[in-house]
Amino acid sequence: MKPNPGGIITGEAIIDRENEINEIWHALENQSVVLTSERRVGKTSVLRKMEENPKNDWIPILYMVESKWHPIEFVEGLYETLIEKEVLKNKFHKLKKFYTKYVGGDQIGSWKLPQIKENWKILLESAIEDIVSVNKRVLFMFDELPLMVSHFLHNKECGAKVSMEFLDTLREIRNKYETTKKITFIFCGSIGIHLVIKDLKRNFGYNSDPINNMKIVVISGMNKSGAMLLCEKLTEGENYQISDKDKIFDDVCRKTDNIPFYIQHVFAFILESKKRKITEKLIDDAITHLLNDPKDEGFFNHYTDRIKTYYDPEFQKIALFILDKICKETGFLHEDKIINLVKTYREIEDETVKEAINLLWSDHYLLRKTNIRSYKFKYTILKEWWKINRG
Ligand SMILES: Nc1ncnc2c1ncn2[C@@H]1O[C@H](COP(=O)(O)OP(=O)(O)OP(=O)(O)O)[C@@H](O)[C@H]1O
Ligand SMILES: [Mg+2]
Repeated sequence: MKPNPGGIITGEAIIDRENEINEIWHALENQSVVLTSERRVGKTSVLRKMEENPKNDWIPILYMVESKWHPIEFVEGLYETLIEKEVLKNKFHKLKKFYTKYVGGDQIGSWKLPQIKENWKILLESAIEDIVSVNKRVLFMFDELPLMVSHFLHNKECGAKVSMEFLDTLREIRNKYETTKKITFIFCGSIGIHLVIKDLKRNFGYNSDPINNMKIVVISGMNKSGAMLLCEKLTEGENYQISDKDKIFDDVCRKTDNIPFYIQHVFAFILESKKRKITEKLIDDAITHLLNDPKDEGFFNHYTDRIKTYYDPEFQKIALFILDKICKETGFLHEDKIINLVKTYREIEDETVKEAINLLWSDHYLLRKTNIRSYKFKYTILKEWWKINRG
């Protein structure tokens, strides 16, 4: 199998993730799921594998929403996706009834008409009612949902009011229909939806909890056997000379934190180098290349951008400062020491630093030692990048 770092992968090319997928299927029998991880860790690939291999009679509908800037665009895309997947065979009775009421004609045409746009909520609810009325189990997988909500927030036509209304509508729909067991949802995205909700609460007086009854599933690196299998697949048919395969693959897995995206990058580098013999030195060269790449194909800048874009201004500088310091440590660093370090940089309440640490921990930048409030980078590869590029 040829390496394909960052490309769309399907079918056999999506290796492993069985544990994560089973956990999600299991959770879906009782509640909807929020699937989350940092960029490029493998969320969409998990959704694709689920879509290709449905379970428990669910009909999975993978719907990519990142290009939507208004809820009506979301409804339009949902309608088109449902038609394409032939879930309803065009029997949108409720949806058509309202569309006709607002537009006059009985054919669904433009979604841009003002009377359609302003009634996005009822049109969305009707589409869902149409789905629930047929005897099928439909699993909606909305990929990049938090990004879409943040688009709504920045779109002058929508703003905070519509963003909050949209999240509340999804919650109302879930509350109304989830118990029928005919419909369930996965909200997926690389920006944590909690950051978007936090922003709405802090700055726009939002007081709902639109995801608090959903199961949060976090995707990290693969388990060891999956990561080793990916190494095996990416070397198949290439006639590489590898003196001690287990040792070499183990080295790749350790240096990439078992994250398939970085494993793919390592083997893409090896393939391009045209070298036939895979040594530890060649793997180090691949990692060094990734960490020093001006084009940032490893997407590491995302980790700083995300703080700059989604963290409250109060926490941005502190969070970056903490990471700039922690990357130089060899082991865990205790909360008290982190607080003291921040105090050498500026006058600050302990509580504010604690809150920043908690944000970084819940956002998977940091890993916490069990029972002790000591922290280090969750991913070694990110720590190395941070050290080289920022620390
Ligand atoms: N299970 C897997 N098997 C093989 N390669 C994988 C797997 N999961 C992810 N990858 C590799 O990592 C890349 C990124 O994966 P994917 O697009 O699924 O991540 P993501 O978390 O959805 O990223 P983003 O946050 O950017 O949307 C893929 O293009 C592929 O190279
Ligand atoms: Mg994705």
